[in-house]
Amino acid sequence: MSETTIESILQEKRLFAPCSEFSQNANIKSFAEYQQLYEQSISDPEGFWANLAETELDWFQKWDRVLDWQPPFAKWFVNGKINISYNCLDRHLTTWRKNKAAIIWEGEPGDSRTLTYAQLHREVCQMANVFKQLGVKKGDRVGIYMPMIPEAAIAMLACARIGAPHSVVFGGFSAEALKARLQDAEAKLVVTADGGFRKDKVVPLKDALDEALSNNGVPSVENVLVVQRTKQTINMQEGRDHWWHELHAQASINCPPEPMDSEDLLFILYTSGTTGKPKGVVHTTGGYNLYTHITTKWAFDLKDTDVYWCTADVGWITGHSYIVYGPLSNGATSLMYEGAPRASNPGCFWDVIEKYGVTIFYTAPTAIRAFIKMGDEHPNARDLSSLRILGTVGEPINPEAWMWYHKVIGGERCPIVDTWWQTETGGFMITPLPGATSTKPGSATRPFPGIIADVVDLEGNSVGNNQGGYLVIKHPWPSMMRTVYKDDDRFRRTYWEHILPKNGKYLYFAGDGARKDEDGYFWIMGRVDDVMNISGHRIGTMEVESALVSHPAVAEAAVVGRPDELKGEDVYAFVTLEGSYQPSEALKEELKKHVVKEIGAIARPGEIRFADALPKTRSGKIIRRFLRNLAAGQELVGDISTMEDLSVLDKLREGA
Ligand code: PRX
Repeated sequence: MSETTIESILQEKRLFAPCSEFSQNANIKSFAEYQQLYEQSISDPEGFWANLAETELDWFQKWDRVLDWQPPFAKWFVNGKINISYNCLDRHLTTWRKNKAAIIWEGEPGDSRTLTYAQLHREVCQMANVFKQLGVKKGDRVGIYMPMIPEAAIAMLACARIGAPHSVVFGGFSAEALKARLQDAEAKLVVTADGGFRKDKVVPLKDALDEALSNNGVPSVENVLVVQRTKQTINMQEGRDHWWHELHAQASINCPPEPMDSEDLLFILYTSGTTGKPKGVVHTTGGYNLYTHITTKWAFDLKDTDVYWCTADVGWITGHSYIVYGPLSNGATSLMYEGAPRASNPGCFWDVIEKYGVTIFYTAPTAIRAFIKMGDEHPNARDLSSLRILGTVGEPINPEAWMWYHKVIGGERCPIVDTWWQTETGGFMITPLPGATSTKPGSATRPFPGIIADVVDLEGNSVGNNQGGYLVIKHPWPSMMRTVYKDDDRFRRTYWEHILPKNGKYLYFAGDGARKDEDGYFWIMGRVDDVMNISGHRIGTMEVESALVSHPAVAEAAVVGRPDELKGEDVYAFVTLEGSYQPSEALKEELKKHVVKEIGAIARPGEIRFADALPKTRSGKIIRRFLRNLAAGQELVGDISTMEDLSVLDKLREGA
């Protein structure tokens, strides 16, 4: 996050109260009602969650214990039996929602489809039966590497239906990144498509998967199910690769949902951390279903008449929780759009809102900033009057972008819900409730009921109002990650040992810095670890460094985030070369391409700087804060006395 943003957020004093007409019709109608719910959730968390689990979800068998908390391991709704695909589909079929649109889909080239709950149920059952036919059993992991087409959601729900945990890999990740994730999850089946349309290009997903699987790269993979989307020519390997449309035609439409234990693994989703190896974040079934359901209902004030659109990709947690599971569990109409904002069609998002009468629109600050740049004439030329709520997620939103969103998109009538949360938290943690919470531009406002958030120092002591510190959560919540896949130790170390336990109580450390103001509002200040936030996507500096040093020319690499007007942050790499290589523009380009190949286009360095040496402490650790200052074009701040060789800094400065 840029200094200017921090500065303006610190000075932000504007307050926007929900209008009374909105509040009267809202699911949570007043601040007093929020406070009452919050008090209740804190004084009796188990009672609070049990009551919601009972009233909001359908269970095959009730739990015997609400929470089993053996820090840092939590179990929710112990021995409860449930199936999230049942809650997202079957239970709506006995109501009028049977013929309601569950998914409205718009493809980038302008094609579209609508699936009612009955149709979606049928498709999910058929795909689940195909999975079974391909040898997938309860507990087997299924990789999903898809464009934004309904079959991505269908595949996720089909996995959930038969109890096969899914591991969705974002379609923008490269073959190498895909391979590492499929290997870690030991996927038995992978669902993909021939390709997808993105920014006027065809993304060759099947080719990338072929590359990942080549030379027996992922030995666990037995079969590949391929959805036809772009119709380009692809290689189909006899015996391994199967067309979905061929198997679909013969698949039975009956597939009973598997009764899952509340704590059975629902999915693994990989996210960047402070080491080179992405973490497999583990989410389980019952608690995740409840928490994504209730946060969607309250924070988006979801009604049966809404057309709800979250612009994320299903490859990220936002797509999991707030395109698929949360909205469908509520019986909502969830819109999916294949395309991304692009120069060739700067009004595409506003066209979709106008075409379908979208009422709730949820996107990211990086997209909002891109729209601001494209010009007001695009949204102004469309009818956006159907909108009633706007949402934002992924990074701190600068107040200027918030005000633009409020005025130009929301017509000054739509509350903005700025939702702070993470892959690890499963659902919203700090967010306004639109009928209850007054908003301040740039603040995610207050914790959701059941969430005890605080800003502390490294010893776990609360810091004072408006003091910066570490954002922590003090009590378990139903959709919290359960562990790092196959690595309990890493889970403990990463999230629970940075901040000392306070009075025997463990604090979940999110990796973000924050401050709390005099009204109890949280202001997120960005990551405090070695994780960058590039266009709202988490990329570990170590991941990019590992990619760079895997190139023969690179001896050492240090990567930092540099403030960027559009992306929030951009990747800035300092590189030292192996003896026989000379710095050149061509080599810079080659290294950028290499990172794209190793990770994906989202990690492409904006800038690479060749250096003779990197600044290090005497014990050999790279001093990143100096590099961050250099990348941002600022004066170096901090103590240089621990530095091994001061001339390194002079050289780096000269090269600036
Ligand atoms: O730094 C915070 C930022 O995104 C991180 C989580 O990234 P990820 O797991 O990829 O999930 C993104 C979507 C939930 C957080 O640690 N972040 C997310 N939402 C916000 C945010 N920062 C400020 N305000 C937000 N609303």
